[in-house]
Amino acid sequence: MAGASHMLRRRCASSMANNAAKYESHKLKTPTTTASAAAAAALGGAATIPGAPAHTRTVSVQSGRSLQQKFYENRILDRYTAQEPKKVTLRQLVLFGRQLTEAKLIASANYVRSELPVRLAHRISDFQYLPYIAGTNPHLKMVYDLYWRAFDEFRKFPAIKSLNDNRRFCDNVKTNLLEHSQVIPQLGMGVAECADLVSPEEIDRFMHQMLVSRISRRTLSEQHIALSEQFDQDLRAHLGLTASEGFTEMSAAPPGFASHRIGIVRADCSVAQIINDCAMHVASIYEDAHQLPPGTAPQVIVEGHTNATFMCIPAHFSYIVHELLKNATGHVIARFASRLESDSAAEVATKPGEPLFPAIRVTICSSHSDIVVRVSDEGGGINPEMLPYIWSFTHPLKAKCLHNFHSVHRMEARVDEDDAVPPLMSFGFGLPMSNVYAKYWGGSVNVHSLPGYGVDAYVQLPRLGNVVENIANRRAHIASDS
Ligand SMILES: Nc1ncnc2c1ncn2[C@@H]1O[C@H](COP(=O)(O)OP(=O)(O)O)[C@@H](O)[C@H]1O
Ligand SMILES: [Mg+2]
Repeated sequence: MAGASHMLRRRCASSMANNAAKYESHKLKTPTTTASAAAAAALGGAATIPGAPAHTRTVSVQSGRSLQQKFYENRILDRYTAQEPKKVTLRQLVLFGRQLTEAKLIASANYVRSELPVRLAHRISDFQYLPYIAGTNPHLKMVYDLYWRAFDEFRKFPAIKSLNDNRRFCDNVKTNLLEHSQVIPQLGMGVAECADLVSPEEIDRFMHQMLVSRISRRTLSEQHIALSEQFDQDLRAHLGLTASEGFTEMSAAPPGFASHRIGIVRADCSVAQIINDCAMHVASIYEDAHQLPPGTAPQVIVEGHTNATFMCIPAHFSYIVHELLKNATGHVIARFASRLESDSAAEVATKPGEPLFPAIRVTICSSHSDIVVRVSDEGGGINPEMLPYIWSFTHPLKAKCLHNFHSVHRMEARVDEDDAVPPLMSFGFGLPMSNVYAKYWGGSVNVHSLPGYGVDAYVQLPRLGNVVENIANRRAHIASDS
């Protein structure tokens, strides 16, 4: 299967990179192709890139000129895909920010500046190894173009030498984050449209890589932006500048100045606090949607090690908890929906001791190395037809939900999405995306369905922040070929 799919794969880099390019032919490369690039160009067929592993390195050929362009682009890309990402742990991020001097902030900027193109290059390469037909999908191509532009921009960004350089760099990174908020809906639509063309396993692998790498790039970007903003804030206070006074006249911090912040990471994040915040948010979403009086949504009871704290990026942990609580609450309400049709909802509002719905129990367990959270509901369990596919992005049952991405333009995969994302729209994406977040930090999400009764969902995350980002190294076949 893997061998056959390699045979069918072709590298369509410049066709994807060039918006104007049209695919005229779909010529498959065989592993024995040995024609030189020039000969292939003359024949108008697929060309092997000199020196490349025979079974993968093909490009689609439009003309001699575009071939040259492709070789040039691929050579640049190859320089970056040959590099492994320099991975970090949460603990490193925290320690770095604790004594943040100008020199360290600039080092952080240059780390992000050199790391983003490497991480982008690996994903651009993933696109190029998709089966040809998927590479022509307009939504996937749009993401490819966004990635290529960002790759080009960051790799060309000059070395950062001063605080003012860093401010310009942060502006670029912020613009990039904003532009890339289209990526999730575009990927969702793209894979939904390719569901009949590419095997579910292949699409799921592709999506997982895309999404985990996206989290990793956003983590580095957001952490650096937060540190830079906090540093500037502290510097302003130190210099007695008001918020409206710029730094234009000053490019360096005074000697000995240091800021002590930790960006987007929390060293001692309260697990119960995050769960309670998410529970309140989820309850209000459902109460609004069903026009229930406040306080009538299923209660969330938090028990176990309620004082537990851990090192995490709260936005990531919140996303997972929020998704699990949304699922639990939605299914409990759906199962007991008949209770909404009686007058009991209004009665319950006046008698808080008699809940309308069975409670959702959230149990926190903190060990030396891990935090485990169990979310138990009585929503009736997972539909057995859906159960085998809850982690997949592409099963036909999911593909229907994925088409909902056509109605959203931006999605950050955060709790605090703006109004662009209807909070209860089903994308079939909450569990797989939660899994991506958890796995990125070396954790996991598991679900046990108790048919006819409810669901127990488990999140496990390392507690001490000492696990390195779980992102793929170089593509396995590239690594094995070199
Ligand atoms: N607590 C739960 N109880 C019953 N079914 C669930 C539960 N959690 C998830 N599911 C099922 O798994 C599917 C996938 O969940 P999810 O990935 O969160 O996507 P979405 O909620 O957008 O449909 C849901 O559509 C639902 O059928
Ligand atoms: Mg969900």
